[in-house]
Amino acid sequence: MATAISFAQFIRLSKTSVFLHGNGLRSFTNSVSFSSASSSALSSPQLLKKKWRQPVVSVLELGGTKIAKDDVIRDDPTNNVPDTIFAKLGMQLHRRDKHPLGILKNAIYEYFDTSYSNKFDKFDDLCPIVSVKENFDDVLVPADHVSRSYNDTYYVDSETVLRCHTSAHQAELLRRGHTHFLVTGDVYRRDSIDSTHYPVFHQMEGVRVFSPEDWSESGIDATSYAAEDLKKCLEGLARHLFGAVEMRWVDTYFPFTNPSFELEIFFQEKWLEVLGCGVTEQEILKRSGKADNVAWAFGLGLERLAMILFDIPDIRLFWSSDERFTSQFSTGQLGIKFKPFSKYPPCYKDVSFWINESFTENNLCEVVRGIAGDIVEEVRLIDNFTNKKGMTSHCYRIAYRSMERSLTDEEINKLQWDVREQVQNKLNVVMR
Ligand code: PHE
Repeated sequence: MATAISFAQFIRLSKTSVFLHGNGLRSFTNSVSFSSASSSALSSPQLLKKKWRQPVVSVLELGGTKIAKDDVIRDDPTNNVPDTIFAKLGMQLHRRDKHPLGILKNAIYEYFDTSYSNKFDKFDDLCPIVSVKENFDDVLVPADHVSRSYNDTYYVDSETVLRCHTSAHQAELLRRGHTHFLVTGDVYRRDSIDSTHYPVFHQMEGVRVFSPEDWSESGIDATSYAAEDLKKCLEGLARHLFGAVEMRWVDTYFPFTNPSFELEIFFQEKWLEVLGCGVTEQEILKRSGKADNVAWAFGLGLERLAMILFDIPDIRLFWSSDERFTSQFSTGQLGIKFKPFSKYPPCYKDVSFWINESFTENNLCEVVRGIAGDIVEEVRLIDNFTNKKGMTSHCYRIAYRSMERSLTDEEINKLQWDVREQVQNKLNVVMR
């Protein structure tokens, strides 16, 4: 029963990929969006050299690059990375073999290794700090696409971001000559707060390049050949992970693939989107010196799949170090169902204010997360009206709930007090 409820909630709240919409109309998005063999430092060497040659205090080593906190967070208008996000850099949940995300990554590796006799090169330690060029330009994301905004993406400076998808590594790996590869990593997106959205999550990217001899004897054109191969590969992957599920393909849009598809599986009475994919835009191959080839690519969100496979009801749990969570999973065990160890009561607090022109829900959520961290379960707009003078009021209901303990009234009142104060000061709205 608990599962049914949590999953229904998951479906209802699920939003789709930020890259689906060519016209950039969406503003609140998150991804569904997708060893350690040949991993190496990859991100924009010129950029890393310039900014990270001599970190003041080296606190982290990411993909072979040492990074200090003040390399990532600076008091500068071109920087919007908060402390809470810096704290996640280097956690690499996907590299822990006993963590649901690591178990899932390994299960996907297993599928590719057996189906393609170890042909896919695997990268899971590439630095998540990448250039704007790698994250957007190299994969043909239009200059005015919503995903480039400071409201949606974490910028270290005007030319450097925390990658918002693993597609950021496609072009460089192609340039380096890889023809079959999987890239797994943590990705970062500014977003709203609920049980399926968290500003850091994990994706796996897959790319396969074909040569003319691959398709020449098939009697079909290169693009159709790649599209067919892609669908076969991913249907096999879905069966490997979910067993005999019903699935369907839906046409969609991504800037980097054409045609583009989403794979949906029928799970607990609902169609659920599990990945995005398509035939790589020829322009990307051309720029990588592969004009005569054709390729496919896919991207899948690991949390989304892991929530289904392990019955995990809240995305914050992936970050929990509570033994009652971590001890439930073991290496190589994909089928284990998570048993909720507690359900502490939520506490709801409302906050109402007159918004201004620059107000966004993502900014509000960042303020709330900055104060309450993982104690905040959901921030939901419950009232919205514009008065005769044209002033717009929003009322948000904040659900506070720890997954690990009961919260005291005193503690929540203090959090809510801080939220009110910072919402007013940082977002310049007028409290009601
Ligand atoms: N990068 C896309 C996303 O994050 C997923 C994707 C990858 C789609 C590769 C197509 C090809 O939504």
